[in-house]
Amino acid sequence: MNVQTDPNTATDAETRLQQLLEQQDDYLNYVYSYPHKTAYRELSPAVDLSQAWANEVKQQLFLYVHVPFCEMRCGYCNLFTLSRPPEALVAQYLDTLQRQARISADWLGKARFEQLAFGGGTPTYLTPVQLERVFDILRTELNWQGTQASVEVSPATATVERLALLKQQQVSRISIGIESFVDHDLKALGRPQQHSQVEQALHNIRQQDFDCLNIDLIYGNHQQSAQDWQDTLQRAVAWQPQEIFVYPLYVRPLTGLGKRASRLGEITSDRHLAYRQARDYLLQQGYQQLSMRQFVKPKSEPGLAASNQPGQSYRCQEDGMIGLGPGARSYTSQLHYSGHYAVAQPQIQQLIEDYVNSSDDDFRVARYGFELDANEQRHRFVLLGLLQCDGLSRAHYRQRFGEDVLQHFPQLLLLQQQGWIEISTQQLRPTAAGIEQADLIGHWLFSDRVRERMQGWDWQ
Ligand SMILES: C[S@@+](CC[C@H](N)C(=O)[O-])C[C@H]1O[C@@H](n2cnc3c(N)ncnc32)[C@H](O)[C@@H]1O
Ligand code: SF4
Repeated sequence: MNVQTDPNTATDAETRLQQLLEQQDDYLNYVYSYPHKTAYRELSPAVDLSQAWANEVKQQLFLYVHVPFCEMRCGYCNLFTLSRPPEALVAQYLDTLQRQARISADWLGKARFEQLAFGGGTPTYLTPVQLERVFDILRTELNWQGTQASVEVSPATATVERLALLKQQQVSRISIGIESFVDHDLKALGRPQQHSQVEQALHNIRQQDFDCLNIDLIYGNHQQSAQDWQDTLQRAVAWQPQEIFVYPLYVRPLTGLGKRASRLGEITSDRHLAYRQARDYLLQQGYQQLSMRQFVKPKSEPGLAASNQPGQSYRCQEDGMIGLGPGARSYTSQLHYSGHYAVAQPQIQQLIEDYVNSSDDDFRVARYGFELDANEQRHRFVLLGLLQCDGLSRAHYRQRFGEDVLQHFPQLLLLQQQGWIEISTQQLRPTAAGIEQADLIGHWLFSDRVRERMQGWDWQ
């Protein structure tokens, strides 16, 4: 039998796990997709998108619209976004989005989009008129007709007018970044935010009665006491959101906090303790845990239609994604691509200017990305499976890759020895301790190639 095992030998994997366990700070990367954008490189030659998509199943694609603008730049944030952009650039951005959507429809051919997400940045940085225009673009150019649409908003931009427009456009989920309800916490995070604005925003969202409200919170800055974190969790739960995401603070190069940390040293607290506090409290409040960060109200609860459960019908392991905008990723089963990535404001502005100056032909090819061979596809499958509380189905893996997952990844037994996964005949399922270590496990599961590329990425 010709078994293609992972090129990392079991011994290598063991040494690496040991090294990771010995690190003082075991929060290494926020692992939510694979591979990370810092592993993308120039594709040479550029890939023709009509060919890249020709043999893909296109019946339930994910459509992602990136709006790389914000009213502020938060201290912790390393997302691809420009604060207070010139108005003319925003207008040009929307024109270009339309052009990219039209050309994408051309090479994509017959396709159906199952889900839509507006991410950022802050999509509601756009005015109601501009937001309406984006929906028009998606309907006319890409035949968007679905009802599963999610939009990220910030407190300052969650106005009655914008939310009414989003409701009218059949948006089902609103995700708002609150991060903390405690003033000194927000200050330590470098996030200027008024209480009154937060309350007003949540009230405005509730008034429109969206199927799903998600609140994002961040824990683990060194100024945050256990009581502060508890206050934030309680105040979030008081709004009865259908979802809560709790993010451990990551201090990233080139961010405001990254610069502060290089002057002051450690600016995070014990994130494991804060994580357990949040997990225990949210479970006690009737939330169900889906992953290290995501907590949801169980389906049977009123107000959350089954179709709006995150990840319900879109199968991230199998279905492709079309991203619009320079910071958006797109995925086929074998190719992940996007525009270039940057964190510093001048570079981001330059990349957005390059985007609006793109020729039509530029939108017919992928120039920057990552090609996933069979080994990388297997890594992705295992990694995304083990990041979820539901775990990974052995039958599903076998169906996709023709072999048992433990034949390809014998090193996963190390996670079992560590008490991080349970292995049954059907499933590999993370334990509570494994979910707490999801980012570390995800990092450990990166292939050699991805790790080398990420290490070699130039943080300019
Ligand atoms: C696009 S933003 C949310 C919407 C909107 N831009 C806002 O900030 O209100 C995505 C979320 O990622 C989380 N996040 C971003 N950078 C982070 C970091 N370095 N550490 C922890 N969480 C982070 C925050 O919770 C943030 O709300
Ligand atoms: S956290 Fe949100 S508002 Fe703040 S800079 Fe990042 S994307 Fe913009």
